Amino acid sequence: MLPPLRLLQDNVRARSTVRAAVRHPIFVLVTAVCWNAITVHADQAKELPTLTYPIEGAAGPDTYIPNASLTTCSLLDPYPATVSLPWNPTVAQAKEFCSQRINCGGIVYSTADINSARGSPSLATASYCLPSSFVAGTISATSGVAFVRHLYSSCDLRISLTSSAPTHYGTLTDIRKACVRPGRGLTPARDRTPRPRGRKYAAPPKPIVELSGHHYEVGKDVFVNIASAQNQSADGSVHTMLTSGGVYYYMPGSSHATRAEAEKPFVRDGWYPLYSTEAGAQAASIRDGGNGQAQEVGPGSALGQPIKWSEVPHAQSLWMPLATQSRTYIGDYIAPFALDGYFPLYSDIVDAQKASTGYTAQSHGPGSNTGHPLSWSNGEKRLFYMPADGPARYYGNYYDTSLADAPLYSHTVALRSTSAAGESAASRSAAQVVAAESMPTNTAAAAATLAAAPVWGR
Ligand SMILES: *[C@@H]1O[C@H](CO)[C@@H](O)[C@H](O)[C@H]1NC(C)=O
Ligand SMILES: *[C@@H]1O[C@H](CO)[C@@H](O)[C@H](O)[C@H]1NC(C)=O
Repeated sequence: MLPPLRLLQDNVRARSTVRAAVRHPIFVLVTAVCWNAITVHADQAKELPTLTYPIEGAAGPDTYIPNASLTTCSLLDPYPATVSLPWNPTVAQAKEFCSQRINCGGIVYSTADINSARGSPSLATASYCLPSSFVAGTISATSGVAFVRHLYSSCDLRISLTSSAPTHYGTLTDIRKACVRPGRGLTPARDRTPRPRGRKYAAPPKPIVELSGHHYEVGKDVFVNIASAQNQSADGSVHTMLTSGGVYYYMPGSSHATRAEAEKPFVRDGWYPLYSTEAGAQAASIRDGGNGQAQEVGPGSALGQPIKWSEVPHAQSLWMPLATQSRTYIGDYIAPFALDGYFPLYSDIVDAQKASTGYTAQSHGPGSNTGHPLSWSNGEKRLFYMPADGPARYYGNYYDTSLADAPLYSHTVALRSTSAAGESAASRSAAQVVAAESMPTNTAAAAATLAAAPVWGR
């Protein structure tokens, strides 16, 4: 941790403020307001604790701590194109370039003197480094100086401080941005546990974080924000996990011990709903009106079915909830699809019947028994089928939030659910039109039907 800022130097503040004033008029106003606060309570301000910049990257207020004992690092991969790098950069310019990159963990800076000693042009250069990749070395005529990126988990007040690093050619001084907490009134600033703010993290390929001694994949097991974790949680519950570096992640499940209960069901080889743990399937049974029991399925289970899964290692045991209200599928699951806001639809009447509590299906499309819709937007003149009871039915107002659940059909259309499921006035009137059109008006039957129909506007 860094020492309290008892030595806030007036000249530093003055320099940085004047420079900022030229660029950002609004900054002047903010700084002017903050100036008072700092001037009055400067000796009580305290720098907030810094966190090591995480390997998977993070956004948020950062600072660069010079460390002369670190002289080399692993370079960013892919490394930024030469044309995009600041030419002959100052330390500040190099740090700013690094801060714009989510995977940049700091720089190794070489002054013009250092580069001349190496036999290179007498210009300053910076190497941009992967996080936590710095390597110690001895200070020599040709060694660079590391400026290691650190993160703050919150920022009460952003200020500029001088930082200095020894080099073979003398001290390299520079301005670094820091986050401090000013004291309030006569009360000195106190330490408090940093609270995470709305930080955002990048999602590079398979970022793995270590939490409580276990490794989790970000975006699959743990998430960087609550909404994504809730989306992956069967009951919407979420708990937080903290890395040793102080970075928060979110994981589905009301607590870490019970996280398996929040697993979402998946389909494999026509078996649905499947869970990877017994606890997950038991919790699903309770949620779906079952008895809280689960059955093991797979080649090694008592059931002995299926004899082989299509996915490696082919012999894993999975779990299915028992006695639920929704049907379970033993190798014959066909995912329903949405078309024109109608959901759940099946191409085959048998599949729709299976999904129905009472094994009955209704048809949709031109000439269907429900009479609506009058046409499909994909131009097909055919019937699709929907379970007549059981799952919620949508007539033109379904938004399929997870098209991944409907992999068997390519013509799925994403639409938003704008009103509650069920028949609407529009679908009823469409049904009447179809009924009227398919009826020869001169027959006695038609006359009887029309006479029985309610007369509007009477
Ligand atoms: C500089 O880096 C070395 C090696 O990683 C470390 O032991 C030391 O604490 C660092 N110094 C500062 C001031 O961060
Ligand atoms: C929720 O999860 C589904 C897939 O499971 C995904 O398609 C969707 O983008 C996710 N939504 C959010 C807000 O993360």
